[in-house]
Amino acid sequence: MSHDISSLRKFVSPEIVFGAGSRKSVANFASNFGARHVFLVSDPGVAAAGWVQEIIDLLTEAGIRTTVFTGVSPNPKAEEVMAGAELYKASECDVIVAIGGGSPMDCAKGIGIVATDGRSILEFEGVDTITTPPPPLILIPTTAGTSADVSQFAIISDPDRRFKFSIISKAVVPDVSLIDPQVTETMDAYLTACTGVDAMVHAIEAFVSTGSGPLTDTHALEAIRLINRNLEPLIQNTADPYLREQIMLASMQAGLAFSNAILGAVHAMSHSLGGFLDLPHGLCNALLLEHVVAYNFNSAEDRFRRVAEAMDIDTRGMSKPEIKKRLMNRIVELKKKVGLEARLAQLGVTVSDIPHLSGFALQDPCILTNPRKSSLRDVQVVYEEAL
Ligand SMILES: [Fe+2]
Repeated sequence: MSHDISSLRKFVSPEIVFGAGSRKSVANFASNFGARHVFLVSDPGVAAAGWVQEIIDLLTEAGIRTTVFTGVSPNPKAEEVMAGAELYKASECDVIVAIGGGSPMDCAKGIGIVATDGRSILEFEGVDTITTPPPPLILIPTTAGTSADVSQFAIISDPDRRFKFSIISKAVVPDVSLIDPQVTETMDAYLTACTGVDAMVHAIEAFVSTGSGPLTDTHALEAIRLINRNLEPLIQNTADPYLREQIMLASMQAGLAFSNAILGAVHAMSHSLGGFLDLPHGLCNALLLEHVVAYNFNSAEDRFRRVAEAMDIDTRGMSKPEIKKRLMNRIVELKKKVGLEARLAQLGVTVSDIPHLSGFALQDPCILTNPRKSSLRDVQVVYEEAL
């Protein structure tokens, strides 16, 4: 009997506590891991918003010491991971907590790997490279978009190669994720838009990925539906707790989908932009999205029809080219309404960067699950369209 493994699908997820106030259970979970000294990773902006001090207070009340590390830049660098791991070891910490956006969370994942294994973080690039279990990890996301809090990805920048590399492993799925919409209330409208569109990209790429399947499809479609309906109203009223919760839920579902179905060309190309030119991840994705959809559409027509339906487009009786046009129009309209209209050239990308960018994009693991096989020339053309 033949055994075809290409149709097998797996699903990994952290233990999730979702809802307003869930962050306040951080000390209970840390205690359950036997924490005596927590290594708390964040960034200066999140600390200035007061969220770091609240976590320190909660841990202190439970008799747990903390060492705080906020030396994380927007695209976390390999040397920041190494510095964090040194401090973790010197402070004799035993559990890692991170509160922040994708950057502190990815940095915390890297710190955990290096703190137990000892080698350079650069040696863990790729899929399933971690053989020593990292310390217990509790993540508290403060943005609704990156989904590092549920994913088996850690994305780290290597400034020497000007390259953002991916670590993909079940070992970087956190043990606990405290997903609390209240902490996203300090995000401004622009960051809300960038991270919200990033979550939309996660959901669309996961749904059309060659790794998609029944375990991830429902999460991806629900995320698309929620973001399509709630992101514009949230940008109009960023303090609305109901809308914050809807977008946080969408981000979580998109994260569960892409962590397991993996992504596609938008992420391969935006990781390349982020590594080469140190540009913000969500914005890069937003600027590339409709161009990649146009490129991919004919390779996954039925999947894109279902994406269009999740975006409330009534596709009954429509021809395939018509569905493609309506879907692209809706994506462009959504981006415009949330204020993300720039083109890559306005971020400082030039025609002469495109060969480098395309070469790096083809080395990114996310390109492997893109529904359309991509050559160097294909990727160059899509960058040119987005310029
Ligand atoms: Fe992303």
